Amino acid sequence: MSYKIRNKEDYAASYKKSIENNSDFWEDIAQNFTWFKPWNTVMECDMKEASFKWFDGAQTNITYNCIDRHLEQKGNQTAIIFEPNLPTDKALQISYNQLHENVCKMSNVLIQMGIKKGDRVAIYLPMIPELAYCVLACARIGAIHSVIFAGFSSGALSARINDASCKMVITSDGSYRGNKTIDLKGIVDEALKDCPCVQNVLVVERTNTEIKMIKNRDHYLTPLIEAASSVHEAQAFDSEDPLFILYTSGSTGKPKGMLHTTGGYMIYTAYTFNNVFAYEEKDVYWCTADIGWITGHSYIVYGPLLNGATTLMFEGVPSYPNAGRFWEIVDKFQVNQFYTAPTAIRALAKESIDYVNKYELSSLKIIGTVGEPINEEAWQWYHKNIGKEKCPIVDTWWQTETGGILISPLPHISPQIPTFATNPLPGIQPVLMDQSGNESSENNVVGKLCIKRAWPSIARTIWGDHQRYKETYFTAFPGYYFTGDGAKRDSSGMYRITGRVDDVIIVSGHNLGTAPIEDAINEHEYVAESAIVGFPHDVKGNALYGYVTLKQDIENKELLKKEINQLISEKIGPIAKLDRIQFTPGLPKTRSGKIMRRILRKIAEGDFASFGDISTLLNPEVVEEIKNGKI
Ligand code: PRX
Repeated sequence: MSYKIRNKEDYAASYKKSIENNSDFWEDIAQNFTWFKPWNTVMECDMKEASFKWFDGAQTNITYNCIDRHLEQKGNQTAIIFEPNLPTDKALQISYNQLHENVCKMSNVLIQMGIKKGDRVAIYLPMIPELAYCVLACARIGAIHSVIFAGFSSGALSARINDASCKMVITSDGSYRGNKTIDLKGIVDEALKDCPCVQNVLVVERTNTEIKMIKNRDHYLTPLIEAASSVHEAQAFDSEDPLFILYTSGSTGKPKGMLHTTGGYMIYTAYTFNNVFAYEEKDVYWCTADIGWITGHSYIVYGPLLNGATTLMFEGVPSYPNAGRFWEIVDKFQVNQFYTAPTAIRALAKESIDYVNKYELSSLKIIGTVGEPINEEAWQWYHKNIGKEKCPIVDTWWQTETGGILISPLPHISPQIPTFATNPLPGIQPVLMDQSGNESSENNVVGKLCIKRAWPSIARTIWGDHQRYKETYFTAFPGYYFTGDGAKRDSSGMYRITGRVDDVIIVSGHNLGTAPIEDAINEHEYVAESAIVGFPHDVKGNALYGYVTLKQDIENKELLKKEINQLISEKIGPIAKLDRIQFTPGLPKTRSGKIMRRILRKIAEGDFASFGDISTLLNPEVVEEIKNGKI
């Protein structure tokens, strides 16, 4: 690859060129890939209409670039290492040749089941190799994959399946997570009661649990794969053909299906993977995320494979069978780049250091974090105990919407400043907006983080709702992409992301919109209304605090709390359960009826000192009552 940033001068020159001559910059990078037809234009960008096109007119196939292109030189090199949940079970090393064979067979199975270009396929699988095969097979035949994290409940699953009218669901009989076995197929059966669009369900056998198979709808994958041909020629698709939909939370109950397209996403994830992780040939790279999230899409599957890398997939959890599991895997496969979430670091830092010291970790060269701000203490623990004070930490800031990493240190190039994501990558122009909505030109400022110009992997729309896409990201600051995050720029121009400034709360690295949780609670027959806020938690980063107003007083409040959390589990998933629930006589509201979350946040944090002026509230007396209720 000729797009490696090797030193500070390289970075400065790349950045300068990317700003002054954006199209030429990306065109040079795109030359590193196989295109079946060249582009007419490099980019067309309309920030007002939120309309973006990259490499328009060109044709390619992203899986050809991920797999076929490497076969001649790297056919026998490991593409994917699969480490199962149980350490005593056998790991798999899947070569590029084997990956090719599996993806071709899977593509033929999908075609045989009637899946065509543009059809949506929901994938609800644990972290097993079939998940990667299915994602890549969809991309190979032009079907749009919609991976739904296998921790979501049946309600969340059916909402996502219906939103995109998925024609097929791919799931497994069950999944292993630590010492638990989860009945995935049962959850799918429940979800599909409400999904008339689904014609077929493919079932991967993982746990061999007894499941119900519905005739003519459900099919075990194994016999289909065994019968399928391993010959499949990658089709040519337009650069702007949809690649996948991935849902993220928003400020209304309806999840937002972010749509990513092919060519721009391909070159951006490849370029950023290579440079942010300073990937060298033969390195073993491990990202601990789930492919159900954008991190897994871009930096377990696409980015690494586009670079011909060896990427590790882990089925289990960091705490099982004990808190040394991650470090055991690092030594076992001599992992060179390790990428995880601050919440995992905080959880593991609480355990005995013996779990770390049992392992050498000497193979590690670069360690990274993603998904939420990392606190200084966790950063220092990671640096000292995992990086052994020699591995640069890449604190990578980005979003489902951005497709790839936008702000991150580059190893051995950017300064190491704890808790700072530091520099924008080439092609990215971050700006901070001040209180009056203008760009701050100074350093040493805080503001709302926006991006000035589009980059190749920016989401193209919200599936089925372009208006919502425009309103959410492009109207707060006309002409800019608004991230929903706040940030600080220090005196040397380095960025530190401080957290969300909207109704999204990040709990253990998962984005949770307050609206869908409130909607779930409000469905309880005794609940009149509710409001959710976040409060600091030493492992999860934030935990959820729910204020709930009842229609009438109820005696057994403990039971009611359990029922509320049960409802949330059913509607969204266990990740959205509330840590604390307080029953309140009312919720503080403005005269226009808007809930004053700022005050509720302060009470949840235990900060009773300064609520600001509450005299203009519709019901100021309720603040005192809530405060007293908490104490
Ligand atoms: O608030 C930011 C936070 O995660 C949000 C995006 O969440 P999601 O779409 O689920 O994607 C997560 C994985 C890319 C952002 O708006 N976030 C992500 N990375 C960082 C971060 N906050 C601080 N520092 C980071 N490195």
